[in-house]
Amino acid sequence: MHDLLPAGGAIRKLWITEAGKYRDHLLRLDRDSRHSRFGGAVADDFIRGYVDTMFGLKAIVHGFFVDGVLRGAAELRPLGPGFAREAEAALSIETPWQSHGVGSVLLDRTLLTARNRGVRKLHMACLANNRRMQDLARKFSADLSFDFGSVAGELAAPGPTPLSMLREFLSDSHGFATAILDTQAKLLKPA
Ligand SMILES: CC(C)(COP(=O)(O)OP(=O)(O)OC[C@H]1O[C@@H](n2cnc3c(N)ncnc32)[C@H](O)[C@@H]1OP(=O)(O)O)[C@@H](O)C(=O)NCCC(=O)NCCS
Repeated sequence: MHDLLPAGGAIRKLWITEAGKYRDHLLRLDRDSRHSRFGGAVADDFIRGYVDTMFGLKAIVHGFFVDGVLRGAAELRPLGPGFAREAEAALSIETPWQSHGVGSVLLDRTLLTARNRGVRKLHMACLANNRRMQDLARKFSADLSFDFGSVAGELAAPGPTPLSMLREFLSDSHGFATAILDTQAKLLKPA
C-alpha cells in the first residue's frame, strides 16, 4: 500500500524510551476517542498505568508523528508469552488527524508486523458500535477477516515471506532516518 499521509506526517515504530510520548498522545485524545479506544470512560491515571504496563509486554507501537509530536498510534500486543500466535491491536488518532487516511496506513503497518511475527489471529480492541473502525478494517478484508461480534480477525495470509520481511525492513530504515531528523531538528532549534 502506498502511504498517503497528511502533509508533514511520518510513521515509524516507537522506541522503548518513547513511552512518555505514547502516554501524552493517549491523554490528549478527546472524550469520544478515548471512550472508543479503551471501550469506556477511563481516567488519566488509568492511561498512565496502562502505558507503564503495556511497554513491558513486548508491545510494538507504530506512531504517526507531525513535527515530532505523536498524533496517532497503532499498538500490537502479543496475547500470551513471547510473540504468540494471537495478538491484540488497537488504534488511536487525535481528532484533527482523523479521517485523513492515517488509520489506514497504521493498520497496514500493523498487519505487516503481525504477519512477520507469525501472528495468526488478531483481536481488535474495538466496540461493536465503532462503525469507523469497522469500515477501516473492511478495507483490509483481503488480509484480514473480522468478526466484530467476537472482535477477532483471522490473518488470511499468515506467515512471513521474503517480500513482507523486506517491506517491514524498508519501513523501519525510513522510520529510523525520520527519528534522527526529528532529534536533529530539536537540537538545532533556537531555545
Ligand atoms: C477509528 C480510527 C482509528 C480510524 O482512523 P482514521 O485515520 O480516522 O481512518 P482513515 O482516515 O484511515 O479512514 C478509514 C476508513 O474509515 C471510514 N471513515 C473515515 N472517516 C469517517 C467518518 N468521518 N465517518 C465514517 N466513516 C469514516 C472510511 O471508510 C475510511 O476509508 P476511506 O477513506 O477509504 O473511505 C480513528 O478515527 C480513531 O482513532 N478513532 C478513535 C479511537 C478508536 O475508535 N479506536 C479504535 C479502537 S481499536
